[in-house]
Amino acid sequence: MSGILIDGKKVSSDINAASAASVERMHNEYGKVPGLAVIVVGDDPASHVYVNRKEAMCRELGLHSEKYELPAETTMQELLALIDRLNRDDRIHGILVQSPPPPHIDEEKVVAAIVPEKDVDCFHPVNVGKMLLGRRDGFYPCTPYGVMLLLDAYGIDPAGKHAVVIGRSNIVGKPLTAMLLQKEKGANATVTCVHSGTVDLAKYTRDADILIAAIGKPEFVTGDMVKPGAVVIDVGINRIADSTRKSGSRLVGDVKFQEVVEKASYITPVPGGVGPMTIAVLMQNTIKGAERAFKAAVGK
Ligand code: GUN
Repeated sequence: MSGILIDGKKVSSDINAASAASVERMHNEYGKVPGLAVIVVGDDPASHVYVNRKEAMCRELGLHSEKYELPAETTMQELLALIDRLNRDDRIHGILVQSPPPPHIDEEKVVAAIVPEKDVDCFHPVNVGKMLLGRRDGFYPCTPYGVMLLLDAYGIDPAGKHAVVIGRSNIVGKPLTAMLLQKEKGANATVTCVHSGTVDLAKYTRDADILIAAIGKPEFVTGDMVKPGAVVIDVGINRIADSTRKSGSRLVGDVKFQEVVEKASYITPVPGGVGPMTIAVLMQNTIKGAERAFKAAVGK
């Protein structure tokens, strides 16, 4: 058996087309477009690639975008001053500080400084709390919600299934565990979250109907850890050395694809699986934030 590939490029491109249509409608209706500010501190090459992609997608979909590339020596005070200015700028509806920042930057303080109404990452405690409570008046976090949308696009209903999430990061593992658990359509799974402290991790993964790898370890999930017929979602993006490539490296996920594809019913590739969904949800969130602001401004 060979699993069906879940095509994140196709699903995200449909979402992006709907987002572009929303931007055009809002321009006609309110005379304004949504705006996103992306901030990157320091010179981590991967972070710069990600923020450039976010900026390019804004341009493609017709959003206003502002990119701030700040030197590694930027102080907390300078960063907080920029966030304060963007919080009060009514052309900006989403503010994102690319993670991880340099070590001297207190990420918790930075996230807390963004007004929740513009926290399109859903990193602010207010939005994390709303998400946990199943409330829809905040934002959903980009990568976890991207995973939920991928499952939905392929008619995979988590209800009653055993979903196992590998990893407990604040960006993916924890929020995804909470989202799969919600008593609502498209969720309602029985969820286990396994992590670096789990004893006999494979005991849990082998029981998963839906297995989600978000642990940041290249090819961690091997064929023997997967139940035949499981749905496997790979959130990992890891660069590993490969002397057969001109670049000397290649991208792999957290799943050993060539083994696991033989056992899975559905599987996401890396790249082209979860990756493009993150930006698609970020655009949706910025549009959602803008629509709330535009409606409030006209008293709707
Ligand atoms: N770094 C990796 N993923 C993300 C994300 O979704 N948002 C931000 N701000 N930083 C990230």
